[in-house]
Amino acid sequence: MAKKKNTQAAVEWDYSPSPESTSHIELKSKYDLYIDGKFVKPSSGKYFASYNPATEEKLADVAYANEKDVDKAVKAARKAYTNVWSKMEASERAKYIFRIARIMQERSRELAVVETLDAGKTIRESRDVDVPLACNHFFYYAGWADKLDYAFPNRKVEPLGVAGQIIPWNFPLLMAAWKIAPALAAGNTVVIKPAETTPLTALILAEIIHEAGLPPGVVNIITGYGDTGAAIVNHDDVDKIAFTGSTAVGKIIQKAIAGTGKKATLELGGKSANIIMDDAPIDQAVEGIINGIFFNQGHVCCAGSRLFVQEAVVDIVVKKLKRRMDTLILGDPLDKNTDIGAINSKEQLAVINKYIKIGIDEGAEMYQGKCVIPEKGYYCPPTIFTDVAQSSTIVQEEIFGPVLTIQTFRTVDEVIQKANNTPYGLAAGVWTDKGSRIFNLTTKLRAGVIWANTYNKFDPTSPFGGYKESGFGREGGLHGLSAYVKLK
Ligand code: NAI
Ligand code: MG
Repeated sequence: MAKKKNTQAAVEWDYSPSPESTSHIELKSKYDLYIDGKFVKPSSGKYFASYNPATEEKLADVAYANEKDVDKAVKAARKAYTNVWSKMEASERAKYIFRIARIMQERSRELAVVETLDAGKTIRESRDVDVPLACNHFFYYAGWADKLDYAFPNRKVEPLGVAGQIIPWNFPLLMAAWKIAPALAAGNTVVIKPAETTPLTALILAEIIHEAGLPPGVVNIITGYGDTGAAIVNHDDVDKIAFTGSTAVGKIIQKAIAGTGKKATLELGGKSANIIMDDAPIDQAVEGIINGIFFNQGHVCCAGSRLFVQEAVVDIVVKKLKRRMDTLILGDPLDKNTDIGAINSKEQLAVINKYIKIGIDEGAEMYQGKCVIPEKGYYCPPTIFTDVAQSSTIVQEEIFGPVLTIQTFRTVDEVIQKANNTPYGLAAGVWTDKGSRIFNLTTKLRAGVIWANTYNKFDPTSPFGGYKESGFGREGGLHGLSAYVKLK
């Protein structure tokens, strides 16, 4: 554990290591595919490894599903849809979903530790954010299952059929919950693929779903790389595609399903503006900036990665921000004191470092938090860039790491123009003392989610999704349910 001196304290002191125990975790050495209610070997016989990015150690081998396996999974999902799930009383369906949520809660400690091991995110985050939110999504949508007629009054509600779902590596279990829970509540069956670097909590979820006694084929969980995802997207008998990931793959998916009857929701990248007005509560705003960009190592599609500070307060904001960055503890994600864990993969660290180099080469001024970088594992210190322009590459492109650009503005109109001048439109944050300013800005910012005097707040009841190249469709709340139903 990298110890950190607290620079703000009058007396220098260190935190003692406080690692979460892994003794209660028993990972299998090899995981198979969960298809038709059984754990089955991949037809190719191939497996690939998932690593702990904090230590570079191998955690387990997982099955590599090919087209044949995808076909098996879709057939199982179709059979379960036609014969069982679409015919079942909605109140019965709800009981299964509640059961999944409860077993997840029972195994929450295990889920949190495995999420941290496999993804590199801090235990504080997986324990206090990812896992409870994932459980809450199942609880919330379980509640809707037998109330669809109230969700969509005066309409006849029907499920879509088989949903093919592909999720990323930044919130592995939470994204699985966002996808599976509303699909099941609305009466659909599921084939889902977790990301290749973070498959393990989805495989534990397969065990939980099995334990909950869901009829075989209602949820199929298959692991693999991009080609496995593409096989789901291109399968003729899938009725809906739900994807979260990069804008590049989102575009490929959109092309692949054009002209087919498949419905889609795409939740893609972002470059969200976090706006500090001159009347903002500065200390809270600084915490909001930290949370906006350094939460989950910045691997957050709605990260507040473009900071806009009104000119009158920029000096004090940047000074306080740097001081706060120096107190952040980077290191062992399993340590309960750690603020910044490991970057998810070697590849992603290379992407982030490429952008940091571009920032420096383009003439921006860089500051990095004073952290001790562990020898093993993939880490990136919290990084900010000033002296950037609207046209800078690091202002325009999604970095997906703990890297913030800071720009200034004088008037509200100016910041609205700058904030909206991006191909993305996922989220934004506004910090000000005045409600009128909040309403003015929030109606003019082109972003799916806007937080006022807070950032990165999530709740199952509130819809989430983007504009423009950030994708379309909403997840969470009633909106999330409507993405899985046909209304007549
Ligand atoms: P990605 O978009 O390639 O991966 C996301 C998921 O899509 C994974 O499960 C992957 O196996 C699957 N996939 C890949 N190619 C596919 C295809 N042709 N058809 C169907 N599924 C496919 O993201 P990647 O390569 O891991 O990250 C690259 C960049 O994407 C990151 O640097 C970041 O900027 C962005 N990203 C954004 C996310 C977000 O939530 N907005 C999540 C993950 C990455
Ligand atoms: Mg991993």
